[in-house]
Amino acid sequence: MTDTAMPMVVLISGSGSNLQAIIDAIAEQTLNARIEAVISNRAHAYGLERAREAGIETRVIEHQAYADRASFDTALMQLIDSYEPQLVVLAGFMRILSDEFVHHYEGRMLNIHPSLLPEFKGLHTHKRAIDAGHRRHGASVHFVTAELDGGPVIVQAEVPINDGDDTETLAARVLEQEHVIYPLSIQWYADGRLELKDHRVYLDQQPLQQPALIKNGQLTDAAVDQT
Ligand code: GRF
Repeated sequence: MTDTAMPMVVLISGSGSNLQAIIDAIAEQTLNARIEAVISNRAHAYGLERAREAGIETRVIEHQAYADRASFDTALMQLIDSYEPQLVVLAGFMRILSDEFVHHYEGRMLNIHPSLLPEFKGLHTHKRAIDAGHRRHGASVHFVTAELDGGPVIVQAEVPINDGDDTETLAARVLEQEHVIYPLSIQWYADGRLELKDHRVYLDQQPLQQPALIKNGQLTDAAVDQT
């Protein structure tokens, strides 16, 4: 971590394994960023333990304490902004955010979703991919826009669906890849290489024709050859 480290806030609701991957990438100096705070809407999210273990400030803001979505989102925005992050990272944050909230962080908020978007927006993605008989599945990092899981995709990682897979084996295979593509995307952002313009992702000032793709652990997209 250096003085140039990009300040960010990470929002979680659960286990926080993606948070852990980000913490590890910072510790290994493959990610030049600093987590100013981890915010959870659930007091017992295990990710809060991970943050404390890493010496990161933790905050809990429980939505049940607010009359409606708008007042919760306003309080959450104020809390996030008090840390002056350059980037807001949603890492398993299980809340649907208001348009106002999303608009406030447009172009500076990322999410990770366990499917090859635009396939399988929403919940239970692994089960839905298996039930649909798909042979491939994966995860996507995208800019957050008003449409749930609908923002422009930056990087995807593809994994096979093998005979005999159940949701657990498949989820584990996908999660392993999530832990690769999230720190990578954040580093691109920290390096000033990523931008959201006119609802498109720009990497190194070039609009991405399609998301960068990691397959068999390798970046396959020509647009990102120079990394
Ligand atoms: C991941 O599958 C992520 O794609 C989704 O929520 C899950 C969070 O897992 N958005 P974890 O809390 O990071 O372990």
